[in-house]
Amino acid sequence: MQDHIIEGNLKTDRYLVNFNTEDLPGDFFDVVIIGSGIAGVYTALSCPRNTRVLIITKESIEINNSVLAQGGIAVSLDQNDSTDLHFKDTLYAGAGLCDETAVKALVTEAAENIANLCLYGVNFDRDSDKRLSLTREAAHSINRIIHTGDATGKEVCDTLVSAVSALDNVIIREQTFAVDILTEKGECKGVLTSNEEGTEFKAYYAPVVVCASGGYGRLYSKTTNPEVATGDGASMAYRAGAELVDLEFVQFHPTVLFHPENQNFLISEAVRGEGAVLRDYKGERFMEQYHDLKELAPRDVVSRAIFQEMQMNGKSHVFLDITHKGKEFLQRRFPTIYSKCLSYGIDMSKDFIPVAPCQHYSMGGIKTDEWAKTNILGFYAVGEAACNGIHGANRLASNSLLEGLVFGKRIGRMVKENLDNIKIREGFKPKIKNDKKYVEKEIDCASSIGRLQSIMNDNVGIIRTKESLKEAMKTIMEMSAQVDGVKASQSQIVELKNMLILATLVIKAALTREESRGAHYRSDYPASDDKNWLNNIVFRGGSNND
Ligand code: SIN
Repeated sequence: MQDHIIEGNLKTDRYLVNFNTEDLPGDFFDVVIIGSGIAGVYTALSCPRNTRVLIITKESIEINNSVLAQGGIAVSLDQNDSTDLHFKDTLYAGAGLCDETAVKALVTEAAENIANLCLYGVNFDRDSDKRLSLTREAAHSINRIIHTGDATGKEVCDTLVSAVSALDNVIIREQTFAVDILTEKGECKGVLTSNEEGTEFKAYYAPVVVCASGGYGRLYSKTTNPEVATGDGASMAYRAGAELVDLEFVQFHPTVLFHPENQNFLISEAVRGEGAVLRDYKGERFMEQYHDLKELAPRDVVSRAIFQEMQMNGKSHVFLDITHKGKEFLQRRFPTIYSKCLSYGIDMSKDFIPVAPCQHYSMGGIKTDEWAKTNILGFYAVGEAACNGIHGANRLASNSLLEGLVFGKRIGRMVKENLDNIKIREGFKPKIKNDKKYVEKEIDCASSIGRLQSIMNDNVGIIRTKESLKEAMKTIMEMSAQVDGVKASQSQIVELKNMLILATLVIKAALTREESRGAHYRSDYPASDDKNWLNNIVFRGGSNND
């Protein structure tokens, strides 16, 4: 498969703030990891104990997307399952754009990493024979999802964070915002960070910098993602000259609670895996009209079907019905969802749950190979921030936590095998500065971010057209012009600039892909075009003042 390359013609500054490494406070590590979700923390745990590792996170360590994951982790453990079947299901969901080498690594290294999680003490649900319980999610041809009730991410993250916090060789710095990666002669040398407010700066130098900062769900006003998911990693990578890929593939989860007080709480796909069905406003099932697998069709198909039903009937939501399961089962299997719904007066053992699709996951990100390497020497990416091709055009459910584990482990292996080159050396400090003159200007970041999120939601959502995308591009261009050259005097301006870069690239990718494939659906090009479009759109980053 060939990449469709778009050279970096976007007008970006190389760095967003002024600094000079000569007088900037700095510290030295062997490995610096940006982000504290499963990918970041597991990478730190996988590095040899004789390396000095730093994790930085812009909020506190437990605020990330992994912690919210409900469903579970995909792994072929059933006696009728195999890594080949997991491979095939992943490729089928990915609609022709998966990287087979990376998917092979994912499925074949899954079981050893799950065994490792069990050794750390992760408490997955087990059956009466003490075997890991397996459930079903969409587009898996067999029960393959291990879980801890409906709070799998929290159980895994809590366990791994407590393991990493006990290590002497790993330092964790919270409320530390990665503003830019530092490069010298095209090689990554470290990370420029600020405090929470964006007023004090510090550099962390390392021969290995790993971006595990998560996705860009917060480009959308309706998302299951936490506030931190503003795509900082991909934007800073782009400024530094990294390649970004598959940005047009934004995953919308079919079933997110639709309640006046809450429209971003996930109702896990595992609920459908346990037999829940979708019903329209008349109480009738509709999924059989859309796909043979009905409610367990690939996620993009189910989201689009719900969206179309809502549009056809002029409704804001549909319903999820699992009332045929007993209260006792639902309370045990889905304790978080059960009690959240109940807090809004919905008893899922008796009532249908109102649901609508909303943004959930970013398939695209910083382009890496199957060892998490980017095109910038010393710079790696893993987890949702990265795109190594395992998801293709549509991620198979519960492959994302697994991705963080498998490729985080691979980074650890790479560090171990290259220890002589990777240990920080005396005199590593590079000479880098940015003395660009910025304009001082008051920016209402909250309202700008709100405007960006609405336009992305309305125009770059589940169903796109050339017109909707062009309109979004026009607004984003106007907004970008308003902050161009403006001093990033607070963290929110950095976030806004990051979001504008990424929104521009997502829209550009969606405009460029004149077909429908996986999560990218163009109503003006409703069919897939395998002749012209069986390739990935890659943006080659860079700035106009490199
Ligand atoms: C879910 O529980 O439905 C989310 C699982 C996932 O995003 O893979």
